[in-house]
Amino acid sequence: MAKLIVGNWKMNGLGPALAEAQAVAAGLAGSLAGSLGGTLGGSGVRVGLCPPATLIERMARSLSGSPVLVGGQDCRAEASGAFTGDVSAEMLSEAGAVLVILGHSERRAGCGETDALVAAKVEAALRAGLEPIICVGETLAEREAGRAVAVVATQVRGSLPQVLAGRAFSVAYEPVWAIGTGLTPTTAQIEEIHAAVRAEMSAVLGVPGARAPILYGGSVKPANAAEILSVAEVGGALVGGASLKSADFLGIIAGAG
Ligand code: 13P
Repeated sequence: MAKLIVGNWKMNGLGPALAEAQAVAAGLAGSLAGSLGGTLGGSGVRVGLCPPATLIERMARSLSGSPVLVGGQDCRAEASGAFTGDVSAEMLSEAGAVLVILGHSERRAGCGETDALVAAKVEAALRAGLEPIICVGETLAEREAGRAVAVVATQVRGSLPQVLAGRAFSVAYEPVWAIGTGLTPTTAQIEEIHAAVRAEMSAVLGVPGARAPILYGGSVKPANAAEILSVAEVGGALVGGASLKSADFLGIIAGAG
């Protein structure tokens, strides 16, 4: 299955940053035409960028005709209403998004998002025709207590609604302690958690839901991308800091070829 490589710009990027997105699209086009052709194109690596909400419409417009998918970083579960400051899945879709990141640890920890709320947002994303990327991951304290597998399994069970079965989505395993720290789990640790995520997906959604890719996120960079992306059950990457620079992001995408 095609690997999915998605950049999460978080709360970074004003208008001039769109040049980086265009450079990613140009780099992909160049790769298709050049020596990497067939690895990026033939095996079908899918590439996405999730800028801040203010840039979604402009990015979607400037990338139209390119294979780069545009996504949001969160949405409200309701379609509309008196929710000051929030953005619905329908609004993201109208702006040109096709992906949406949900349940990122920065929202779980910083905005008190529970598994049940994440599941409601996933349903909203599907309602609006968006492809959700559902994030899970343990804290350092939870890992040190030997609870990483249990914590992640509980998050998967609670955050994936039944309606996902047969729909396009992915799960992203992002250990909280690896985000923005330069630390990464060992390949054995990634493999263990991804296997547990796959087992939970199968238990919750049955066979049709169990085929969705499981991304890894947390300090992915060009130097470690190929190794991480070759681990069993790693179906792609969710990239933070290294997605802000087109050269780094393209280097990671090359690692998926
Ligand atoms: P970094 O790649 O900066 O560690 O961030 C990972 C992340 O949180 C992506 O959603």
